[in-house]
Amino acid sequence: MTWGHRHVAECAASQRYARLADNLRRIYAPEALILRADRAAQDESRHAELCLTLAKSYGWTGDAVVLAEDSCTAPPQYEGHDAVLYEIVGFCCLSETLNAALMLATLEHTTVARIRDIVRQLLADEVKHGQLGWGMLQWSLGQGRGEFLSEVLVQLLESIGLHTLYSNRAEVAWSDELTAHGELSRRRRQDIFVEAMHSVVFAGFEQAGITTDSTRSWLATYDPRFASHLS
Ligand SMILES: [Fe+2]
Ligand SMILES: [Fe+2]
Repeated sequence: MTWGHRHVAECAASQRYARLADNLRRIYAPEALILRADRAAQDESRHAELCLTLAKSYGWTGDAVVLAEDSCTAPPQYEGHDAVLYEIVGFCCLSETLNAALMLATLEHTTVARIRDIVRQLLADEVKHGQLGWGMLQWSLGQGRGEFLSEVLVQLLESIGLHTLYSNRAEVAWSDELTAHGELSRRRRQDIFVEAMHSVVFAGFEQAGITTDSTRSWLATYDPRFASHLS
């Protein structure tokens, strides 16, 4: 089921990157960023195929996947450059960066060879997709844009589905076998999230001069570990 879900998400990501590459062209972004988005669209469609093969080997028949519609697309008050920046920060700096951290942990815990092989391939690309976000942020700040970002980090985290990571729904007892097949428990995914937010995401925003205190306070209502890092 996880791989079936990933297949659908990778298809959607491929279409999103193709659209983002066009949007980057429209705002005269540096060629290097456009190229990264074009490559990401190709990467995601390759990932979709890999995930589909794996999902089918676990008996997935193509049903029961519902994706949040276009998470991270900018609300209407953001236009042009700001709208592209909003979406790329949400999708790349947050979603892809966090996804890469999850894949790295999956690689550490998974023992099934064909899953390790696929996760390794995905991971190398997802890291680059995260870098598109940080590159976009850097270029935008140089253009005098992006001040609004510290105020929208909370809504971006909501839109990528933070509540599901901290849902109250009881989790089935986790087995080592599930972990061996690349399925990490919610508890473990929360640990990865906290660590990646601190060491990569917040570190990246702060280095760029984007304040994160209100986002950390909000996150502390989900996970007290965020409170200990409030300045
Ligand atoms: Fe991907
Ligand atoms: Fe990606």
